[in-house]
Amino acid sequence: MLGGALGEAGQSLPELEETLKKAKARNLAWYGPRMFRPSYFAGTDVLDVATKAFNLFASENWLYGRTSYPALGEFEDDVLDTLYDLFHAPAGAAGILTSGGTESLIEAVHIARDKARAEGKSGRLNIVIPNTAHPALDKATHLLDMDVRRAPPQETQEAELDWLMRALDENTVLLVGSAPPYPFGEVDPIDRLAKLAKAHSVRLHVDACLGGMILPFAEMLGRQPPLFDFRIDGVSSLSVDLHKFGYSAKGISALIFREADDATFTRTVFTDWPSGMYGTPSISGTRPGGALASAWAVMRYLGRDGFMERTRKIYEIRDEFIERLRALDASIIGRPDCYHFNFALAGLDNLLLAAELSKEGWIVSSTEKPAAVQLMITAAHEGVAQSFANIVGNIAMDIRKGKRTGGSESSVYSKVVVRQRLARGSEARRTAGT
Ligand SMILES: Cc1ncc(COP(=O)(O)O)c(C=O)c1O
Repeated sequence: MLGGALGEAGQSLPELEETLKKAKARNLAWYGPRMFRPSYFAGTDVLDVATKAFNLFASENWLYGRTSYPALGEFEDDVLDTLYDLFHAPAGAAGILTSGGTESLIEAVHIARDKARAEGKSGRLNIVIPNTAHPALDKATHLLDMDVRRAPPQETQEAELDWLMRALDENTVLLVGSAPPYPFGEVDPIDRLAKLAKAHSVRLHVDACLGGMILPFAEMLGRQPPLFDFRIDGVSSLSVDLHKFGYSAKGISALIFREADDATFTRTVFTDWPSGMYGTPSISGTRPGGALASAWAVMRYLGRDGFMERTRKIYEIRDEFIERLRALDASIIGRPDCYHFNFALAGLDNLLLAAELSKEGWIVSSTEKPAAVQLMITAAHEGVAQSFANIVGNIAMDIRKGKRTGGSESSVYSKVVVRQRLARGSEARRTAGT
């Protein structure tokens, strides 16, 4: 007997389609007027383009983009050229496309470590990062056998900069700033971080995984978001996820570096192999051609004007939410520069508020320090700001009157489960018992 997905006899496609649809129905809908967790929805037309392009190239392996599938190599060149323009990369800059923000961050740390070693640094190297930087950086240092110095929460940006400065030492090879960090939507002071990095001769990586495909268009719209790209002297590399606000199917991000020479530290070129040369630009081997085609097609479909239009809409929706929530006396945490923001009501358990909102079908996230409700705004939220504010007002009133109680839940970004092999028979018992 086979357990799990395989079974003994196969299923027909129509039968399977039914099963898949039922399975999908058990998931939260990934976008919609009440879904405020990360979701990068820009309209069903864009989704259609992203999905059709993905499907057309779903089985083509991007690993062979420079051999069997030259169209994928061309898509790659086009996407990178677009990103060089968007981030004002100087002549001589270069970049690689990766599988996601995590791989881009791992490679940014990898370059910093190996370049420092090539320049003669030895001993255990470290990176210095703000409190809100993404945990993929901790993963990177673990994999690369380095230390990470993460700032503890600070009251002010000034205090954090001071902490970061004091954490730098002769073994530091990289400082990181985010545009913006995931927990709060305020872009780190990249110009000041760049000065710090230059003064201590360390690299500065800008993690624009989240904001990279929003902030340039916000600037074109005249919104004046803080500068975060290669116009700032001292920015060594920048990551941007196309599977976020590039609206593409999942599995594509980019790492751009000021100096093309950095690519030599991320690539593998191995020739001592019976199958000949094996060359990859970064960690991944096989890569989804569909994700690349999807990112390319969305760029072609929207053009600069289309990205500006979708960005304008997201900011307008965000601003309306902020206005309606402020009318309830909610305070907005920091200065949201991008599409997401966090709010809190004074004298209230805001984690309980977040949990109760989600119970009512308004699926929000939360942060713990400070305790706040987090909203990630997309085009799907058009026209719902007032209804959302109403429900926040009602739930807050219930909590204040003691009508809604219960332990506030701690924030969860994602979880791990390790599925273990059970002894034969115990699985059946477990199923019967639940
Ligand atoms: C700022 C930032 N950096 C990095 C990442 C990691 O990206 P991924 O989940 O694509 O690996 C994220 C994901 O949300 C992010 O928000």
